[in-house]
Amino acid sequence: MIDNRTIETAWTYHNSTKHSYQSIRSNTHSLDWANHPLPFKIYPTLEPLPLRREVRQTGVAALSAIAESIPVQDDVVPDLEALAQLLYLSAGITRSRKYPGGEIYFRAAACTGALYEVELYVACSGLPNLEAGLYHFAPVAFGLQRLRAGDYRRVLVDATGGEPTMAHAPLAIICTCTYWRNAWKYQARTYRHFGWDNGTILANLLAVAAALGFPAKVVCGFVDAQVNRLLDIDSEREVAFSLVALGRSSALPPQPSSEISPLGLATVPLSAHEVDYPLMRAMHAASSLHAAEEVVSWRGRTPPINVPPSANPLIPLEPLPDEEISRDPIEQVILRRGSSRKFARTPITFAQLSTVLDRATGGVPADFLDPMGAQLNQLYLIVHAVEGLDPGGYFFHRERKALECLKRADFRSQAGYLGLEQALPADAAVDIFFLADLASILDRFGNRGYRAVQLEAGILGGKLYLGAYAQRLGASGLTFYDDDVVRFFSPHAEGKNAIFLVALGNSVKTR
Ligand SMILES: Cc1cc2nc3c(=O)[nH]c(=O)nc-3n(C[C@H](O)[C@H](O)[C@H](O)COP(=O)(O)O)c2cc1C
Repeated sequence: MIDNRTIETAWTYHNSTKHSYQSIRSNTHSLDWANHPLPFKIYPTLEPLPLRREVRQTGVAALSAIAESIPVQDDVVPDLEALAQLLYLSAGITRSRKYPGGEIYFRAAACTGALYEVELYVACSGLPNLEAGLYHFAPVAFGLQRLRAGDYRRVLVDATGGEPTMAHAPLAIICTCTYWRNAWKYQARTYRHFGWDNGTILANLLAVAAALGFPAKVVCGFVDAQVNRLLDIDSEREVAFSLVALGRSSALPPQPSSEISPLGLATVPLSAHEVDYPLMRAMHAASSLHAAEEVVSWRGRTPPINVPPSANPLIPLEPLPDEEISRDPIEQVILRRGSSRKFARTPITFAQLSTVLDRATGGVPADFLDPMGAQLNQLYLIVHAVEGLDPGGYFFHRERKALECLKRADFRSQAGYLGLEQALPADAAVDIFFLADLASILDRFGNRGYRAVQLEAGILGGKLYLGAYAQRLGASGLTFYDDDVVRFFSPHAEGKNAIFLVALGNSVKTR
């Protein structure tokens, strides 16, 4: 068994799944549409308990909801309606489109290839209108399927080594990722997508929780086998990736009244056959934690970010003041979000860019970000069309809320190349690249640091999406040529690794 501290596994995975000009051209993979996996997990024998579809209007501005988290306070217990809203606005079906071969159901959060490999489960005490239980969220039926009756939260408390917010959460969301659902298209790179696609869901979930007044915390440290056993998932195919503790009650959960026995529930096969990419399973196994004590020493104490001293004048952000920001509520913004399929080459304002950066990067409540406000990813920008900023490459000094220009020029064609030779990053107003000092992250967190850095990127990326759509801008996540991105921002970025990319700009309506 490879240990979390043997970080060669994360390096091997990361280096073998880099995209380059060469790797894209030598890859002979093609999409087998006849074998396209189902984008849902279906338990055919479980009757769903229907959830109410009407969205409760929180009226809380999206730009506030993405920036805030609710301080811990006693006895904040979500009811069934609130749970329905949290699930709908993070992983629910918000629109669909027919095409000659069928219908695509688009979801509340962006997802690579619209393949939706993330499933949500709920473990709760008795809530107003919902009995204690372990449930699977079924987006098509928009309902909850009960996997176990009774309160099983104690299993999560034990698996997280007594994580304090989990210990007092009346409700926990468990996010799992299914390899084949995404690997059908993206092959072994899918393990990175687990973090990205889980992260965009969590960005929505955290924002809606804040708008509804619930404390929420992302928990990435847990004994994997215990959580997978609770869900009774086949961990060769589907694995628990993150947990979210929601709400607060003073009482600690009781011991479950019955054993965690296998459920033996049937599920519908995803497609006729599946292709295995063992590199991902090796990465997952090597980043698994095996005992509560290991979890306790894993969480917290985020390594500090070493920012090279600025060699150029800093340009302070100029975010809009509270009274001038868009008041569009979070639920409306999530419902109108959809990735830009084409950007107009028109400028956005510096105030719009400043507002989105300021609101989205204030900190994520997570067990691997300690103290609150710590961050693993660092943001580098290629500015093409932002009024008041010269086109060029920039570094974002987050603590100082300022940009530093690293080089000035029109880099549209280079940005298009870096974003895997696509038009979106060339046409956007600004491309925001996430880079991280992977060596220090893996040194502190072992292989599981790789899950954390990808998940944080997805959460920040999801917040950038929401911050953009709140201001009626467009956004799209993008993939990239790893080492070329680092080279572009070097010498400043030397030694770092490319993790994520989001483009922002003015969308052009496409059919
Ligand atoms: C991390 C991430 C990377 C993405 N990469 C690309 C990309 O390289 N090219 C592209 O056209 N769309 C990309 N997308 C957009 C997805 O295709 C889009 O989210 C998906 O089709 C669902 O549609 P929606 O976001 O409009 O709901 C990406 C999305 C995410 C979250």
